[in-house]
Amino acid sequence: MDGFPSTATQRLPADAAGLERAAALLAAGRLVALPTETVYGLGADATDPAAVAGIYAAKARPSFNPLIAHLPTLDAAMAEGVFDAHARKLAKRFWPGPLTLVVPAAPGGTVCELARAGLDSVALRVPGHGIARDLLARVGRPVAAPSANRSGRVSPTSADHVLADLDGRIAAVLDGGDCPVGVESSVVACLGGPPRLLRPGGATREAIAAVLGFSPETDDDPGSRPVGPGLLASHYAPRAAVRLDVTQIAPGEAALLFGAFRPEGLAQARAVETLSEAGDAEEAAARLFSALRRLDASGAAVIAVAPIPDAGLGEAINDRLRRAAAPR
Ligand code: TXA
Ligand code: MG
Repeated sequence: MDGFPSTATQRLPADAAGLERAAALLAAGRLVALPTETVYGLGADATDPAAVAGIYAAKARPSFNPLIAHLPTLDAAMAEGVFDAHARKLAKRFWPGPLTLVVPAAPGGTVCELARAGLDSVALRVPGHGIARDLLARVGRPVAAPSANRSGRVSPTSADHVLADLDGRIAAVLDGGDCPVGVESSVVACLGGPPRLLRPGGATREAIAAVLGFSPETDDDPGSRPVGPGLLASHYAPRAAVRLDVTQIAPGEAALLFGAFRPEGLAQARAVETLSEAGDAEEAAARLFSALRRLDASGAAVIAVAPIPDAGLGEAINDRLRRAAAPR
């Protein structure tokens, strides 16, 4: 019913053949759950927006939270972000391990906008689990991976937990046994100024404070706290005003379309982007942030958005668009 064929998910052993298969699936844009020392992650090629859209669809996430990009080495991670002195100290002390660093995205970074939820920052982690790092090295690209559970369920710490939630919705799970830490990584933002603890987790506050020389302030975690529309100041918001459920385009507005529907007045639009001609919500999600940026760049004062059904990822797309449309 939800577009997921109920073909069984492959359970891959964590040997050379299993790792090769898992890496090939990820490189082909498929979803593979992987063990880390904290919890199992639901992995996808972080450079491929279509693959990342698959994560949100499989988890049935109602909004686009920014995802952690996983890398096999400190050097690979440092190529994706801009590390200040705090971030470098934390990375050297805790990686590989249960710490995620949110840093400005590097100019030449490869983590796609959908994985970053349109932010200019990127969350990076080098996991402490040897099997995870082996897989990441074989993939050769950052792997986006939230916890491998359906939205609203508890995080999985075994391959059985993953299958209980996601069997038939993902290509494979790499079985690395039980996760030794069992809680998610600590998330620390190093975005200029003192580092902030966005989520407590596997790396203790005491250990983080010992590295920094002070205990970080705790901050709102945009991924775990409900935030009112428009209040998520760090999220990408178009410069243009956003108008939703539009059936009539005013002259000079930019138009964001979905499916076959054509609003009246379209010929007078300043710029037009179609998220998915076929009306496919996953394709639309993969294109959402780049389409918004292109329409913004057209210089239009208003982005007029045609109706998008709430089914599947449509709910997350509409959530994001409502935030963009909220008064600021
Ligand atoms: O242990 C873990 O961290 C697991 C394993 C699989 O690595 N992953 C995980 O991912 O817990 P997820 O998606 O469930 O949590 C990611 C957290 C969220 O709280 C999100 O808000 C935060 O990281 N985050 C990611 N990118 C961010 C950004 N650019 N700015 C602020 N917070 C960010
Ligand atoms: Mg989670």
